[in-house]
Amino acid sequence: MSRVRGIGAALPERVVTNHDLEAIVDTTDEWIVGRTGIRERHIAGDGEFTSHLAERAARKALASAGCEPCEIDLIIVATATPDHTFPATAVVVQDLLGITGGVAFDVGAACSGFVFAMATADALISVGSARRALVIGAETFSRILDWDDRTTCVLFGDGAGAVVLESTADGADAGASKPRGVIAHAMRSDGSHRDKLYVDGGPSTTQTSGFLRMRGQEVFRFAVQATVDVVEDVFTRAGMTADDIDWFVPHQANKRIIDASARKLGIASEKVVLTVAEHGNTSAASIPLALDRAVSDGRIKQGDIVLLEALGGGFTWGAAIVRW
Ligand code: COA
Repeated sequence: MSRVRGIGAALPERVVTNHDLEAIVDTTDEWIVGRTGIRERHIAGDGEFTSHLAERAARKALASAGCEPCEIDLIIVATATPDHTFPATAVVVQDLLGITGGVAFDVGAACSGFVFAMATADALISVGSARRALVIGAETFSRILDWDDRTTCVLFGDGAGAVVLESTADGADAGASKPRGVIAHAMRSDGSHRDKLYVDGGPSTTQTSGFLRMRGQEVFRFAVQATVDVVEDVFTRAGMTADDIDWFVPHQANKRIIDASARKLGIASEKVVLTVAEHGNTSAASIPLALDRAVSDGRIKQGDIVLLEALGGGFTWGAAIVRW
């Protein structure tokens, strides 16, 4: 089993508001807020890469965990906007942190990436393949947006978040009636939906990095039911119900999707952590960014039961329950 020992986040300095976007595409603040809940997003500066945001978030997570980089033996970066096709962004982050041991690799599951990366790290730690991991969600989606397409460019932003996940085999929680740690996870994918949310380029197809394309209404329709299904699965695996949840930290794509999912799951709105208004959709970074916010402002405390959930291109979707 593994437990969260530290958390950190990083956002680019530059903030772009909906009003700023009104000057770029035919849109309005009222339309964007009404359909999505988004008011502003952070956009990476020139020369600011996914690995830079990931490194900043990782350093903060290490500091909050009281760990040195050399104590990390696994780095997983969830990203759909890597610095390069290869090496993995995780390897770049490993080097930026001065780590030369252990293993580092990327997970590609679009907006579900952080949940998938956390489940992967938990599984590797649980079988003894690693002791202490940095699990990072980091994106510069601004680089794959078509800034002439008002139906997509208003929705996304850049950022990174990271957690330090470590083995519970040290016995620190021994004897605790409710030990901290990752309790359960559930993951799904269905590639028959891959034409609904995708990037229209790639090294093997167009030799370009491409731009994000989306059939928004179809994504919306699928998202709510898929979210509910996978969360009900993770409840079953954990032997819990919605009543056991202290905090719901969903992927921050759209406030209407989050509200509808929480309502169907029977989770009270006061338990839902929302950052979509200030961050937009930061894909794999959105959950750790939201977690960091709720930990920093004192809402999420040690021992709280936290439900994570995401859906992304593929479709991929998943959920995890953690005793913080
Ligand atoms: N500003 C103003 N008008 C816009 C606009 C914008 N940024 N984007 C689209 N419109 C227009 C459309 O052109 C359309 O105009 P028309 O009726 O004259 O043809 C109208 O708004 C309605 O478009 P529609 O696509 O039907 O809107 P919608 O209610 O479905 O909302 C989304 C669009 C994208 C907000 C919504 O479908 C959504 O949130 N989908 C899920 C997206 C998501 O979360 N993706 C990430 C998952 S990880």
